Amino acid sequence: MIKVMLISKIDAVLSNIRKLITDEDLSVIAQAAGGESALDKIENTSPDILIINSGINDTDAINLAERITQYKPKIFVILIVEDMTVDVLNAANSAGVHNIITLPDTAKELCDYIHTIYNKEKSRLNALNENQRVRWSSKVITIFGAKGGLGKTTISTNLAIKLAEQNKKVALIDLDLQFGDVHIFMDIDPKETLADLMQDVYEPNIDSVRTYMTVHPSGVNVLCAPKSPEYAEIVSAERMQSLLSLIRSYYDYVIIDTASDFGDVTLSAIEASTMILFVTGLDISILKNSKLSMSLLESLKQKNKVRVIVNRAVEINTISVADVQKIIDAPIIARIPSDYPVAVAALNRGQPFVQSAPKSKLSLAIGDIADILIKGTDNFDIQQLTPKERRALIRRYKTKDKTLKSSFFAKK
Ligand SMILES: Nc1ncnc2c1ncn2[C@@H]1O[C@H](COP(=O)(O)OP(=O)(O)OP(=O)(O)O)[C@@H](O)[C@H]1O
Ligand SMILES: [Mg+2]
Repeated sequence: MIKVMLISKIDAVLSNIRKLITDEDLSVIAQAAGGESALDKIENTSPDILIINSGINDTDAINLAERITQYKPKIFVILIVEDMTVDVLNAANSAGVHNIITLPDTAKELCDYIHTIYNKEKSRLNALNENQRVRWSSKVITIFGAKGGLGKTTISTNLAIKLAEQNKKVALIDLDLQFGDVHIFMDIDPKETLADLMQDVYEPNIDSVRTYMTVHPSGVNVLCAPKSPEYAEIVSAERMQSLLSLIRSYYDYVIIDTASDFGDVTLSAIEASTMILFVTGLDISILKNSKLSMSLLESLKQKNKVRVIVNRAVEINTISVADVQKIIDAPIIARIPSDYPVAVAALNRGQPFVQSAPKSKLSLAIGDIADILIKGTDNFDIQQLTPKERRALIRRYKTKDKTLKSSFFAKK
């Protein structure tokens, strides 16, 4: 049953409309002349359809229609006008009302119109809610690190592919604007880059953005960095922000690889992110820079998004993962072992190791990170786990090197 409410200042019009609503699926649940009493009745009866009769230059009717479309978007408004003039149409359009008719002659015409509008608006609302859901669930993840060569691109490319292997829609953006090398890691030959997109299209939509992306065989859609450092400045922080808010609603994951600086463009990505995967390592120079970066992220109110990855976690006596935790003071969600032959062979072949060496320790570690992201279980810190939880995690790493395991998970 569709609940209909009628509003008109003229009693005769009210009864005319009422007489035409004969369909048994439509029920007139209330009527009013307008003003506050109309608002009260709307509040109390929650109609599905509100039919508002608007006289000539009837600003009250238009204002009411505007308030309802704005504040009660689940109530669909139909405006019945005396004359369909350009002025009336403009006024209705600027009030956000798009369903306008003159009073039909027959009951069937009016009832059919109400049904059509109800179905059309209902599916529009559902589509809107669906997009909302996608928007909320889509994750924008910036891979950041306080120094060059930490493994940001290695992690970005392999993680993007691993997520795509789990049937996720993944976009990978190379925001290392001067020396981006995602295309080399993935052995793709981009026809267009982020700089071309920024230069050619001022108000992009998702279709135009896609024509500037290169599709990797894994299904990951890659927006590559400019081909030469001098094009970096074409990419501005402001436009990056609007590009990200456009892209994020079409992908499950947007992975952003960065250069290790706090430039405006990097900051716009960090701010737009739902998570910052902060890559660090076990040497004192990296940790010094990491600590500085973390305090900057804290002052920018971004620290709560940080999850730390310790890359090339090798057993050394001087610095342990527990020390990293103390220095950086953010949850460590993963460590990736060091395996130079696998990492470099993959890079030189242009085939990321999750594809070329899927059973390697490196690939298993990336697989674990993808798992954590998909399950949303990133809210732990290896150093804060109970002994039982630590044992469960150790089992997942499947490494044979017992010293490495216990040193990594040890609570010091
Ligand atoms: N866990 C690892 N074990 C061994 N080698 C690794 C590991 N991770 C990355 N590497 C190697 O380290 C080098 C630097 O990695 P990568 O280019 O991913 O770092 P980056 O942080 O993106 O650097 P840049 O700041 O220059 O962009 C590469 O040769 C890569 O193969
Ligand atoms: Mg890199």
